[in-house]
Amino acid sequence: MKKLVPSVAIAAMLAVSSLPAQAGSPWVVENTTTKEECSACHMAYPAGFLPERSWRAIMGNLTDHFGEDASLGDAARTEITNYLVALAPKELRNVSPIAVPLRISELRWFRGEHGARRIAQARNDSRIGSISNCAACHRGAERGNFDD
Ligand code: HEC
Ligand code: HEC
Repeated sequence: MKKLVPSVAIAAMLAVSSLPAQAGSPWVVENTTTKEECSACHMAYPAGFLPERSWRAIMGNLTDHFGEDASLGDAARTEITNYLVALAPKELRNVSPIAVPLRISELRWFRGEHGARRIAQARNDSRIGSISNCAACHRGAERGNFDD
């Protein structure tokens, strides 16, 4: 049977600090504003994959967002920032406490788990476009399922 939320396994693999238990799932984007505003160009990435400071950095520079302008009004930006930060771990395994990674796909566990060859294949496959397109391979990604 497919489990919908692999959070325990993934959290154990990724997070050093514990994840908040009550504010919602760090693996499924449940906040409507985040879901709407952050899925126009890619799936809305769940908070658990990046440390708190990374979300703050991303949300603080939306006009220059990986080469795109993803800017938002103040209200939406504040709501999304608060939502992501509340669910994000303070620290991630193998990420220096002073590093501020802006991509999930550049984290060490991610590169190890996916491998250089698969990352290159994703880039060269026009149906996928890039390894950042999680949902192209993980059909259950938007439900928090990265097991297949
Ligand atoms: C206007 C289009 C657009 C919008 C809207 C947008 N993004 Fe992005 N985002 C991008 C592009 C382009 C990339 C780079 C994708 C790639 O390299 O394939 C990206 C990448 C990312 C990454 C890194 C993915 C990785 O490789 O690990 C994160 C995290 C991210 N976006 C968060 C957000 C958040 C949070 C929001 C909502 C506030 C958002 N994005 C809204 C265009 C957008
Ligand atoms: C090109 C297809 C592809 C893309 C795109 C992709 N993945 Fe994966 N991912 C895989 C495969 C295949 C595995 C299993 C690797 C293995 O076990 O050999 C995997 C494994 C994982 C795992 C470990 C699952 C577990 O239960 O151990 C996580 C978490 C994950 N991916 C998250 C992501 C995220 C987040 C993104 C987007 C930023 C992403 N993946 C993009 C194919 C992909």
